[in-house]
Amino acid sequence: MATAGLLYAGYRYLRSKATDWTYYDGKVVWVTGASSGIGKELCLQLVKRSEVKLVLSSRSEATLNGVKAELVEAGAKDGNIAVVPLDLGELETLVEAVEKVFDCFGHIDLLINNAGISQRSLARMTSFDVYRRLIKIDFEGQVLLTQTYIKKLVESGRSAHITFISSVAGRIPVPFRSGYCAAKAALNSYAATIRIELELEGHPIAVTVVSPGGVKTAVSKNALNKDGKPFGEADAVTAEGMNVAECCSQMICAISNKVDDFIVCSSLERFACTLFTHLPLKLATRVILPKYKRYLSETLARVK
Ligand SMILES: NC(=O)c1ccc[n+]([C@@H]2O[C@H](COP(=O)([O-])OP(=O)(O)OC[C@H]3O[C@@H](n4cnc5c(N)ncnc54)[C@H](OP(=O)(O)O)[C@@H]3O)[C@@H](O)[C@H]2O)c1
Repeated sequence: MATAGLLYAGYRYLRSKATDWTYYDGKVVWVTGASSGIGKELCLQLVKRSEVKLVLSSRSEATLNGVKAELVEAGAKDGNIAVVPLDLGELETLVEAVEKVFDCFGHIDLLINNAGISQRSLARMTSFDVYRRLIKIDFEGQVLLTQTYIKKLVESGRSAHITFISSVAGRIPVPFRSGYCAAKAALNSYAATIRIELELEGHPIAVTVVSPGGVKTAVSKNALNKDGKPFGEADAVTAEGMNVAECCSQMICAISNKVDDFIVCSSLERFACTLFTHLPLKLATRVILPKYKRYLSETLARVK
């Protein structure tokens, strides 16, 4: 019995290392934040390797239409890609946005809550409006979309999958990102809780949380500064971060295997996550701070 258990665990482990592209075939996947960075790259990789239908969302309709053209050029059928613009910061519009997304193909099999905005500012100098915006976009908007989606799923009885693109910053304290860390940590707790509730009630809805470390995208340029303006430049963690194609390929693999909680980052970031999980806070901080000396001193100078 024990041997069979071990063999099964080994089989599951090996399978979780390979992408099951058939998981995506025929599925309708809704990607928020599809206009750039991680969201756009996820869409490109999905259309190149599987027969998905995609709904692309973010604020900029023109940019999304440009992404749609790129996806069609990469091999997707025009009729398989829909665009539904939405602004996560405008909470009162989101229930209607979910209806519009359902109208595209009749249902959604996989929601990838990827849209988000980061922060680069000292907590003591940050306008309270910046905290409000971060919580609205990175937490409240995601919860409202997800809750509206789940209500529709429960009515229909369909099985489905919800993915949250969270962040290593939701697991460990990252200076200059106090509001972003808090929003992503809240999202992690929400996701972990709804996963249990859905299972308790017997709803066939999987929940995956993906936590990337630094990835080379425009996230740092678009991050809010203390006054709510774009930070405008790449900090060291982002500029020297993981290649977006590699990051998305690992995410697609984890999602296809319905991994509950997946961290995709450098070995140093993984080390930091391990320290903050297992050591007293003070000790973990003492060990990790010297390793980020350059990021900390350069960014401190920029945010003041
Ligand atoms: N890159 C990293 O180092 C990193 C690390 C950890 C986690 N992440 C997470 O990964 C996700 C994607 O980030 P990224 O790196 O790809 O950054 P990005 O290139 O700046 O992309 C952010 C996306 O979110 C959309 N967005 C921003 N505000 C929005 C709003 N109010 N409503 C709807 N959509 C909105 C943007 O489109 P519009 O401007 O058109 O709205 C864009 O498509 C985010 O949740 C981020 O927190 C990134």
